[in-house]
Amino acid sequence: MTVSIEDLRQRAQRRLPRTVFDYIEGFSDDGYTVTANRQSFDRYLFRSRALVDVSAIDHSTTLLGEPLATPIVLAPTGLAGLLAPRGEELAAKAAASRGTVFTLSTMSIGTIEEVAAAASTPLWFQLYIWKDRSVTQSLLDRAKAAGYRALCLTVDVPVMGNREQDRRNGFTVPPRIHFANVLDVLRHLGWVLRMSSSPRATFGNFVGHPALTRTDAVGVARFTNHQFDTSVTWKDVEWLRSHWPGPLVIKGITNPEDARRAVSLGVEALIVSNHGGRQLDFLPAAIDLLPEVVDAVEGRAEVILDGGIRRGSDIAKAIAMGARACMVGRPFLYGLAADGQAGVELALDLLTSELDRTLALLGRPRLSDLDRTALRVDAPAS
Ligand code: FNR
Repeated sequence: MTVSIEDLRQRAQRRLPRTVFDYIEGFSDDGYTVTANRQSFDRYLFRSRALVDVSAIDHSTTLLGEPLATPIVLAPTGLAGLLAPRGEELAAKAAASRGTVFTLSTMSIGTIEEVAAAASTPLWFQLYIWKDRSVTQSLLDRAKAAGYRALCLTVDVPVMGNREQDRRNGFTVPPRIHFANVLDVLRHLGWVLRMSSSPRATFGNFVGHPALTRTDAVGVARFTNHQFDTSVTWKDVEWLRSHWPGPLVIKGITNPEDARRAVSLGVEALIVSNHGGRQLDFLPAAIDLLPEVVDAVEGRAEVILDGGIRRGSDIAKAIAMGARACMVGRPFLYGLAADGQAGVELALDLLTSELDRTLALLGRPRLSDLDRTALRVDAPAS
């Protein structure tokens, strides 16, 4: 029975070849930050109110002026299409069916156009800036033409983090089958056959790019390190601001100074994120970074918390601290790997129903009832 995100995680682990599961779970260096992202939620305890009418729970909100049926947005994740055939399209459909946003990664397997055609949800497009600016420009043009509502610039990958497990596994796109994982292959034979008959096990948005042909098996870190521009600065944010007509979102803000600067350039939303512990290790937990960014922004932009969300109570804590919404990465990937679109819907439903229960038990039936008075910061009970 699947009653929690942890159950979905275990189902994903049973279904996926180890190399691919390790890629999802991956973290940089010693994993301090990925662990802190979870553990720090335990330091924030609730203050509940008794005898409040909680017969009508309302977890809806708005984000960038659009209604959201649940405050959970699907984070951009490269190669989600490895987890199920047409995985990004399935995840986008799941987001649409639950009334929320799907964010397509630059590094997806399905293309910008395919995912837009599959989904009726407000889509966001996540951008990495390329050394070859004509590639960046063409990504923007394509996202605009396909109707993506917001552009989400990720700023915490000037170079790839040190993901040692992927290096040990020789993680490539498409996944290479090594002798050493023959047992995995046998165990997941059905999956592997489906994958190998898929013509799209590559970075779909760059098919035809000289650095990447469909038949190449390309080391993910090597490819991105060669293609991403390491000289990106705030000037590029200004450039994007004037070339992207819709809302601009920056993902990977960890510093209040950067938050202020982004707001002064007209950025509409900031995502407080350490990339799920996959980039700079020894950044603090995302939830611990949130309050100072919220305070710096002073309501001039919306703030989204990303990283470590595995329970509805985590979402309640983030919103109480001033987040407008939360992003989830691995939780929806587990669902996608476990059961395709239905699995992503289940991940969203589990988190949303846990959030509802938390709101009721807290005596704060609406998201708008949550503020810092709903929390106390304590050392964890031993
Ligand atoms: C990511 N993340 C990510 N972020 C981004 O801006 N562009 C990307 O292409 C990717 N790719 C990616 C792949 C995989 C497999 C994972 C797990 C994550 C980071 C992602 O958007 C988000 O910040 C984290 O996943 C949040 O942490 P949780 O929810 O996984 O704990």
